[in-house]
Amino acid sequence: MAENETLTVTDNRTGKTYELPVSNGTINAMDLRQIKTGEDDFGIMSYDPAFKNTASTKSEITFIDGDAGILRYRGYPIEQLAEESSFLEVSYLLYHGELPTESQLQEFQHSITHHTMVHENIRELVDAFRYDAHPMGMLVSTMGALSTYYPDAKKIDDPEIRKLQFHRLVAKIPTIAAYAYRHRRGLPYVYPDNDLSYAGNFLNMLFKMTEVKYQPNPVIEKALDVLFILHADHEQNCSASAMRSVGSSEVDPYSATAAACAALYGPLHGGANEAVVRMLEEIGSVKNIPDYVEKAKSGEVRLMGFGHRVYKNYDPRAKVIKKLAHDVFAETGKNPLIDIAIELEKIALDDEYFVKRKLYPNVDFYSGLIYQSMDLPMDIFPVLFAIGRTPGWVSQWKEMLEDDEQKIARPRQVYLGYDQRDYVEMGDR
Ligand code: CMC
Repeated sequence: MAENETLTVTDNRTGKTYELPVSNGTINAMDLRQIKTGEDDFGIMSYDPAFKNTASTKSEITFIDGDAGILRYRGYPIEQLAEESSFLEVSYLLYHGELPTESQLQEFQHSITHHTMVHENIRELVDAFRYDAHPMGMLVSTMGALSTYYPDAKKIDDPEIRKLQFHRLVAKIPTIAAYAYRHRRGLPYVYPDNDLSYAGNFLNMLFKMTEVKYQPNPVIEKALDVLFILHADHEQNCSASAMRSVGSSEVDPYSATAAACAALYGPLHGGANEAVVRMLEEIGSVKNIPDYVEKAKSGEVRLMGFGHRVYKNYDPRAKVIKKLAHDVFAETGKNPLIDIAIELEKIALDDEYFVKRKLYPNVDFYSGLIYQSMDLPMDIFPVLFAIGRTPGWVSQWKEMLEDDEQKIARPRQVYLGYDQRDYVEMGDR
């Protein structure tokens, strides 16, 4: 980008011309404020509901080219990380900005492994939920509750304390997720096993029954680790923005992560993987697909797992997951819903409605089918997304705190309500 680029704006209300600096392809919205019709005028603001064309931050963490279908963490292509790396290595990369050396990785792995336990009161807290509580509801609340166990986390300006919370968060979220799952099933809770990998231990906490030592299936363990990598960050999505926005009030990272989890819960975000499986079950058979596609085109339903605010091309994560699904099915047996998913994708990608709107399968389209084949119930799917996304959230939070240009998040509004009016007594209304 050339230096000294500018944008010339003429205000046709006054005839005045302004020259606004352009930096990194953006203008600074505060530069619009000088454009006024008179001394009493507040100045021009930009109006952008849902941040469709507004960068809320500069970032060095994740790069997405939505038109080309490219996703990179700290410059490394997602396909290479999924193939070569591990979730903990990627977590380290996201937070610290560089891949760890062997000793750094060992130290990190050791720290994560030794922070997986949660206070016994957390177990009792999970126990207090209704027998059929949604695991995301349990996760949101329990995450918020963690802030009461680590009052030191309030010292958000101390880099060492921040790092400790990063380790605690990445380490403890699978334990909380597994507790939520076991509670839902009425099964006793399983404590972490330090001999196992991150994903292996999570499977242990989910599925261990009476055996003395749980042995994870290596194919499932690897697939889960790759799924966590694919979900680890996605720049300024709804939950990362929630994390940054809530964190900008300088609250502790557990409270901010609870907010991020809540944002992820919604069906348009992390809840979509659950919604995809429900949709495929509702379609029920390949022969019903054309009718369902028609309903999606008329706006009666949405094709869950399709479309993305940023990707206007095939989501690169969906490509990796589609391949991964076959590795898992070779182990667990084919999920019968995959035939409906593949056919649905084929029909939709050929249909003018979807082509014109550039609606392609996103990360959630195939991930739910894999989770289902791993014997996981649907309502835990968004919790798995949350485990994967935690290092991304905390890295975004750290970057926000270290960015001198950031302040407490506080959008403006365009007020269109009543002008001042007098209170009306009850009898006169
Ligand atoms: N099925 C049918 N039509 C759709 C879909 C869909 N899944 N998604 C978008 N459209 C249509 C929409 O009706 C609109 O059409 P028109 O221009 O005629 O009004 C057009 O495409 C643009 O849609 P939009 O709602 O303005 O797009 P958005 O950027 O606001 O929404 C989205 C993005 C992901 C919320 C949306 O595509 C969607 O609801 N998809 C289904 C839910 C889903 O799979 N979410 C997971 C997202 S990926 C994981 C994550 O990062 O959370």
